[in-house]
Amino acid sequence: MNIDASTKVMITGASGSVGWVLSKALAGRCEVFGTYASHPNVPEGVTGLKADLCDQWAMKEHLELYQPDIIVHLAAITQPDRCEQNPQLAFRVNFEATSEIARVAGTIGARLVYASSDLVFDGAKGSYTEEEVPRPLSIYGMSKLRAEEAALGLLDGTLVVRSSLMYGFGSPVSKTFLSRVLENLEQGEKMQLFTDQLRNPILIDDLAGAVIIAIEKDLSGIYHIGGPEIVNRHEFGRKVCRIFGYDEALLVPINMRDFPYDAKRPLDSTLNTGKYTGATGFVPRAMDAGLEAAKIGC
Ligand SMILES: NC(=O)c1ccc[n+]([C@@H]2O[C@H](COP(=O)([O-])OP(=O)(O)OC[C@H]3O[C@@H](n4cnc5c(N)ncnc54)[C@H](OP(=O)(O)O)[C@@H]3O)[C@@H](O)[C@H]2O)c1
Repeated sequence: MNIDASTKVMITGASGSVGWVLSKALAGRCEVFGTYASHPNVPEGVTGLKADLCDQWAMKEHLELYQPDIIVHLAAITQPDRCEQNPQLAFRVNFEATSEIARVAGTIGARLVYASSDLVFDGAKGSYTEEEVPRPLSIYGMSKLRAEEAALGLLDGTLVVRSSLMYGFGSPVSKTFLSRVLENLEQGEKMQLFTDQLRNPILIDDLAGAVIIAIEKDLSGIYHIGGPEIVNRHEFGRKVCRIFGYDEALLVPINMRDFPYDAKRPLDSTLNTGKYTGATGFVPRAMDAGLEAAKIGC
């Protein structure tokens, strides 16, 4: 699908990390509507719309009124522990609202892109392909998986993008893993980081670019999009120290298994991204280049 000035794109969760970067990348190129729930912050050039997904009519009204050609559905309760503590809220916002959006998308003839996560996998083997059967360990992972299934089942042509840990800088009101690490380092505080959890982190700006390419190429079905390198969080922190000029001694290696989280996390949820790269030729930046880009504002 060609994205031009006549195209209308609705991005849910534009006040969040990915939504901010994606809506900013599209503003000026097409008409962009961006929803928020509690933070009325969207980039310049984006029409901000309040829509709390706990209200089952909020998105329906916006979608029927603005009739977007494409909906990129990013809004979610993204904190696994919060989902574990409040499963009802997690399933309402992450799963049920996605089903409602997919149904309305069908009635207005919009395409749907749904953002899912590597946390749909149990992490027992890693390098997961799109064909492998997910087995979430947490309420968050389960709510995202059920949302995927609903979106794909209710609307032909839906694209589900599963991505890994994201780094970079998103909206002024959302914190990313990178911004949390930098906050600690700036304050000279020690920070505990896992050595036993593997992900393939992706720069948020590259994910946004990858989603735009996927829309332009009319991809549908499930695609894994992640960075080209596999690291644990401690290794990620060491790269941050090297590139941003902080003392690596502030990083304390710990085991995730020893940490009393409410939500269980997979040990190795790395994604095999060959299907997406094969379809588009796009390879996200390696972490050193991604962190350098983030340092100078991408
Ligand atoms: N971050 C990652 O590492 C990662 C990895 C894999 C997949 N993902 C997926 O990618 C998507 C975007 O993640 P992100 O990191 O950009 O998220 P984020 O920064 O946590 O932002 C979440 C967004 O969802 C909105 N939201 C939360 N509760 C809502 C509700 N009840 N009703 C309506 N909107 C609500 C927030 O709005 P307000 O702030 O205005 O309340 C915000 O815009 C999510 O679907 C997530 O599951 C993220």
